[in-house]
Amino acid sequence: MIRIAILGAGHWGPNLIRNFHTHQASEVVWVIDRDPGRLELARSRYPDVRVGADPAAAFDDPAVDAVVLATPTVTHHPLAAAALRAGKHVLVEKPLATRTEEAEELCALADRLGRILMVGHVFLFNGAVRQIKEDLDAERVGKVFYLSMLRTNLGPIRSDVNAAWDLAAHDVAIANYWLGGPPLAAAAQGGSWINPGIEDAVFANLWYPNGVMAHLHVSWLSPRKVRDITLVGEKGMLTFDDMNLQEPVRHYDKGVSEKRSAGFVDTFALFRTSIREGAVTIPRVSTGEPLKAECDHFLDCIHRGVRPLADGRSGLDAVRVLAALDRSLHEEGRRVDV
Ligand SMILES: NC(=O)c1ccc[n+]([C@@H]2O[C@H](COP(=O)([O-])OP(=O)(O)OC[C@H]3O[C@@H](n4cnc5c(N)ncnc54)[C@H](O)[C@@H]3O)[C@@H](O)[C@H]2O)c1
Repeated sequence: MIRIAILGAGHWGPNLIRNFHTHQASEVVWVIDRDPGRLELARSRYPDVRVGADPAAAFDDPAVDAVVLATPTVTHHPLAAAALRAGKHVLVEKPLATRTEEAEELCALADRLGRILMVGHVFLFNGAVRQIKEDLDAERVGKVFYLSMLRTNLGPIRSDVNAAWDLAAHDVAIANYWLGGPPLAAAAQGGSWINPGIEDAVFANLWYPNGVMAHLHVSWLSPRKVRDITLVGEKGMLTFDDMNLQEPVRHYDKGVSEKRSAGFVDTFALFRTSIREGAVTIPRVSTGEPLKAECDHFLDCIHRGVRPLADGRSGLDAVRVLAALDRSLHEEGRRVDV
């Protein structure tokens, strides 16, 4: 049985408490939150769990094997560092930290102390994202040309980080996973209308090796909840709509079958032959709760002493990209090195 302390019982923390407390390989022994109201709710739902306001209570408790952080992003680095130094394995909600140096320090600490450090890149545990990774590795869409990623909703509005750190953290983690590593360069523009200096909407471009581009639009100030990705490859195209729970992925056997010759295309028939409009297929995708798969993986990595898929390095790679987007935002969208 792995004994867990959860820090942060706000909007997201209760999902982690439920998963770890009902898991056959773990139990939640502490819930820590600054807000007495959130603690009272946790206590009423889980009377057997100890609650407190001071993270040190969990760090100093030798019965705690692992700490899970679902506190605001700016607290991730200091709390994760303290938990690692106390000898705990750590699962940090995304993003791992708010500065590259902080993320590097957490990776180094985990390595030196021999503890598991994992980041809550929950989409790496999503059946559709995993299936598309298999499709890419099997070269079913051929060489990837570009990705277009859209993540919008009305709220939740953060005051500690901007919409890129909050929302694009997911898209960057997905793109890095699919494409096998981080981009070379990044550029972003955005706007702050609610809290001065904190972008509510960000429009970003990422340049990956081999000419692959990704365009991201993230916003918490938008009328519709959209989680949509289009991937265009040389042999085919696919879409992932995370709001479509039944049929999230579609494969399009579409593309340009012949490169236009120097000849003049002046008939409709000739024009049509260069565009390939093949079948649209809807693969069956495993539909389990991604967060449960993430929690299973964290516990399994602790048991077996192996590096998680979403390890500190993948958290660091995402932070490097998000930090580059920030630099570009402050330089009016200039393309900057990641
Ligand atoms: N993986 C996902 O899909 C997903 C979804 C939502 C949120 N998140 C992440 O989870 C984290 C929390 O997000 P949220 O929406 O639950 O935020 P929230 O503001 O609703 O909750 C944060 C909680 O942490 C508590 N807290 C703040 N500082 C603390 C401290 N020093 N010690 C103990 N408790 C403290 C607050 O009182 C609050 O209850 C963020 O990093 C966010 O990016 C991830």
